[in-house]
Amino acid sequence: MKRFAKFTIDGKTVELPIIEGTCGPDVVDIRNLYQETGLFSFDPGFTSTASCFSNITYIDGDKGVLLYRGYPIEDLVEKCDFLEVAFLLMYGELPNFSQKESFEQSISHHTLVHEQLRSFYQGFRRDAHPMAIMVGVVGALSAFYHDSLDIYDPAQREVASHRLIAKMPTIAAMAFNYSRGRPLPYPQNGLTYAQNFLKMMFAIPSETYQINPVIAKAMDIIFILHADHEQNASTSTVRLAGSSQANPFACIASGIAALWGPAHGGANEAVINMLKQIGTKANISEFIERAKNKNDSFRLMGFGHRVYKNYDPRARIMRKACHDVFKHLKIDDPLLEIALELEEFAIKDPYFIEKKLYPNVDFYSGIIFRALGIPPSMFTVIFSVARTIGWVAQWNEMIADPGQKIGRPRQLYSGNVKRKIEDNRTS
Ligand code: SDX
Repeated sequence: MKRFAKFTIDGKTVELPIIEGTCGPDVVDIRNLYQETGLFSFDPGFTSTASCFSNITYIDGDKGVLLYRGYPIEDLVEKCDFLEVAFLLMYGELPNFSQKESFEQSISHHTLVHEQLRSFYQGFRRDAHPMAIMVGVVGALSAFYHDSLDIYDPAQREVASHRLIAKMPTIAAMAFNYSRGRPLPYPQNGLTYAQNFLKMMFAIPSETYQINPVIAKAMDIIFILHADHEQNASTSTVRLAGSSQANPFACIASGIAALWGPAHGGANEAVINMLKQIGTKANISEFIERAKNKNDSFRLMGFGHRVYKNYDPRARIMRKACHDVFKHLKIDDPLLEIALELEEFAIKDPYFIEKKLYPNVDFYSGIIFRALGIPPSMFTVIFSVARTIGWVAQWNEMIADPGQKIGRPRQLYSGNVKRKIEDNRTS
């Protein structure tokens, strides 16, 4: 039975249809609101706004549930590798053996970047933040791959998508090595996605590189956990850029730029800086109080989430992966001790309980990256490598939608009304 939301404005009653999804909140379709009432809706942070239909990722924030194409993240981490999850996000189903083989082959044959693109790196300072390099180099890919820019040709869309998934690890590892004054690495076909990334990051040309299977598995899990997350800020940026019919490389570069912010993907780097600032367990209570103080700009980085009002399921998996890596590498990191104690403190504190602030995916990821020898400036870069499949899948879903329109929000104008330039303006 069709349902409607009825409301009365200045004596006029308006009925707006309610559209139901398969799970999660239904929506009030306000596409005709302005036409029917002359009013705009107002929702600056999009706290109550669904921007699109999507079949890709579902989050139940109250229950702490994350599904990629219906599969729980916990099951995918346990039973699949990253490229299988990437295939799932892109095509909607887990690959069978032959599909997995041909997908892996396609990705591995796109991991190289054009040799001239490598010279871009020489233009950056050695101390450039690698996210600045990622935004620049990924945006420049459209200058090299003219045969995959026609967004209305499904074959070109697929090639561009595979190129982006395949080249991100190479571009990221090149940025890391460039900052270290080391030769820019080349990918090695035949390795898994995570193994290839680790080798490009850490192999020294003059030595044989040994793949550590525990570290490679941890990296694969990290890629899966960061792959997609419905309409977050960077994915919404990619969709908005894509709605103008910009080429896929430009759209993904815009997503990388949006992800960089410390309120979003930059939080993993901010968590490490925060834990260093806290310094010892003895200081935790002082910083918890600062996080609760409205007059103090300090926030507990890695805590809180727009959607999760329960424990982020990715943080739980990441915390276990942390313990596994630390046990395997026989290391202990005082920052992990502080993080565990901080979590214990915060989740029992009435402020965090009342505001439903729990650890999110970024709270433990930085600590595991440290254990893997990855510097804080590379944390969000790795997030962007993993999230590229999510951005690409969401971009394809939008472009393939026949009803797709350019995204163009309106505003509540509160500026000057029309006025004349006064002739007696002072000089
Ligand atoms: C990611 O959207 C996604 O899906 C993102 C992501 C993904 O996979 O794409 O999950 C990845 O970005 C995770 C989030 C990483 N960011 C951080 O860890 C930064 C710290 N967190 C906060 O900045 C904040 O929690 C946000 C940005 C994550 C969410 O902000 P919201 O939803 O706009 O919530 P809010 O700022 O309105 O907070 C609600 C209340 C506020 O208090 P009141 O104004 O109601 O009194 O909770 C407080 C906030 O002051 N609050 C915090 C807090 N986060 C929120 N107080 C202290 N420390 C915090 N971390």
